[in-house]
Amino acid sequence: MGWIEKFGHGGDLRTAADEFGLRQTDFLDFSANINPLGPPAAVREVLQAGLRGIVHYPDPDHRGLRKALSDKLHVNPESILIGNGAAECMSLAILGLQPGKVGVVHPGFLEYEQFALQFGAQVQSCVGKPELAMQPDLEELRRLFRETDMVFIGHPNNPTGLAYRLEELRMLGRWAEDSDTYLVVDEAFLDFLPEEAQHSLLPELEDYPNVILIRSMTKFYAIPGLRLGYAAAHPNTIVKMKRKQVTWSVNGLALEAGEACLRETEYERQTRSLIGAERRFLSESISTRFGWQVWPGRANFLLVRLPAALQAADLQYRLGQKGILIRDCSMYPGLTPHDFRIAVRTREENERLLQAMQDVLAGWDSRIR
Ligand SMILES: Cc1ncc(COP(=O)(O)O)c(C=O)c1O
Repeated sequence: MGWIEKFGHGGDLRTAADEFGLRQTDFLDFSANINPLGPPAAVREVLQAGLRGIVHYPDPDHRGLRKALSDKLHVNPESILIGNGAAECMSLAILGLQPGKVGVVHPGFLEYEQFALQFGAQVQSCVGKPELAMQPDLEELRRLFRETDMVFIGHPNNPTGLAYRLEELRMLGRWAEDSDTYLVVDEAFLDFLPEEAQHSLLPELEDYPNVILIRSMTKFYAIPGLRLGYAAAHPNTIVKMKRKQVTWSVNGLALEAGEACLRETEYERQTRSLIGAERRFLSESISTRFGWQVWPGRANFLLVRLPAALQAADLQYRLGQKGILIRDCSMYPGLTPHDFRIAVRTREENERLLQAMQDVLAGWDSRIR
């Protein structure tokens, strides 16, 4: 059996195609958490029209998109940095602020640790507690702030899907200042939550000089292949991050698509409504049909634990043969070989996944169920 997360991620269709002998376009992908509606129609139009512009360099200062974000989010443009995905923004936080030691919470997005090591920092971690649904014990989290120079948290966290309350975020922001540590809040999936649940320090950013918020536009607007994200922080912090950015790392088509995305308020509403309903449907169907444990997250993906006799890698392999990809989560410190993650997709696609799971179970040795 191959390892379709050999580059550390879900959504690796090329590796899956090699492994299962199918074409990349044959897969129904639940392993990356991308908006199942696909990009807004306006993005395709902008990309087509923008092709004429690829003979020119993109704006290295990203003025148009920073202004559009500033208007939409009510944040000063000097507090915004555009990146080639949230991933570039994270790496710029490390490159620009040069933390000697980076704190991470497991299980979390594995890139926090990988970027830290890649760019010369040491890593200190704490592991979430099973009795807190794998969220960290506050005392241990506090120690990370005292003992490191930059702490990463996922909000909502990938792969658990759990989000912090606003009061907790404010407390972490104060801890960061008290301990002279940066707090990087990865909000890559925050826009999928219902609006009333999108707690963020963004409107209060001026009160938290040590906080860096990082957002992705690739997941919500379904453009991971185009790459686009941004960071919001104190202007001094943004200047330090920007100094380390390779000129033109964000391409012109992505910048134009980004501006078009921000105008798509109806698409945003539809997405949240679809994800809210389908998350409930998928979660309830998995618990009632199969009796598997679904974690209590809020994001556009579900973390699921199989019973002790079933392995996530095995389920992944059997579904992969049917052209359906899920994310095995056994490599996340703190999780087990029984944990897997699935994106929330459309009703028809979710039904296909449930049916495929049922078929796989029927074909599995009945002694292990
Ligand atoms: C939690 C989290 N943050 C950030 C990213 C990277 O986002 P982007 O595509 O904007 O670089 C990912 C991608 O999987 C992610 O899971």
